[in-house]
Amino acid sequence: MFSRKIDTDTEIRLSLPQYAEEIFTLTDTNRSFLRQWLPWLDQTQTAADTREFIVEQLHRFAKGEAVHVTIFVSDSVAGVAGFNQIDRANGIGTIGYWLAEKYNGRGIMTRVVSDLIAIARDTLMLQKIDIRCATNNHKSRAVPERLKFHHEGTLRRAENLYGTWVNHEIYALLLPYGEGDTPNP
Ligand SMILES: CC(C)(COP(=O)(O)OP(=O)(O)OC[C@H]1O[C@@H](n2cnc3c(N)ncnc32)[C@H](O)[C@@H]1OP(=O)(O)O)[C@@H](O)C(=O)NCCC(=O)NCCS
Repeated sequence: MFSRKIDTDTEIRLSLPQYAEEIFTLTDTNRSFLRQWLPWLDQTQTAADTREFIVEQLHRFAKGEAVHVTIFVSDSVAGVAGFNQIDRANGIGTIGYWLAEKYNGRGIMTRVVSDLIAIARDTLMLQKIDIRCATNNHKSRAVPERLKFHHEGTLRRAENLYGTWVNHEIYALLLPYGEGDTPNP
């Protein structure tokens, strides 16, 4: 288990099955807020569904394919984040995240993603980080924009969100991968 302090009240911890009940309760109370942009809400109906998801993420963590963390604010679960996918062959990690509505507007996710960048650089040794956001998801797009990710382009019809096709905007940050390499000039 690892945990990292983000600020005086906030920390991230590797997601464990014992958090499932609290994560599910938060998911359930924020269902309509999260359902605007996340495609999996209808498949998450019980705490057992959340537990199963976390166990799967731990298996993927063990294989170096993902890192799923739970965000705690004053010791209560506020949301989740992490590398949904790690492409080891190419050194690319794809970040995903959500925060309960009441924790929006405080800069929490921007600070968490900033820490995930440090993990990618110092521990996972990745050379590139991607974040993909639906075109109209302005609050999500603002996170990589605040952190100076480069807008790489638009993927058309990238996701079917409850019967509606949405485009994705891809943001990316290059990380130094060797002495003298200075990406993102
Ligand atoms: C996407 C999501 C995580 C963004 O949350 P957020 O609270 O807007 O993002 P942050 O935690 O980084 O906070 C930024 C906000 O806090 C404000 N803020 C306050 N203090 C701040 C600080 N020190 N640093 C940065 N921002 C700060 C910013 O001005 C901004 O507010 P604004 O939206 O009114 O401009 C959240 O809306 C969410 O979970 N949505 C549903 C799920 C989703 O869309 N997931 C992403 C799929 S790609």
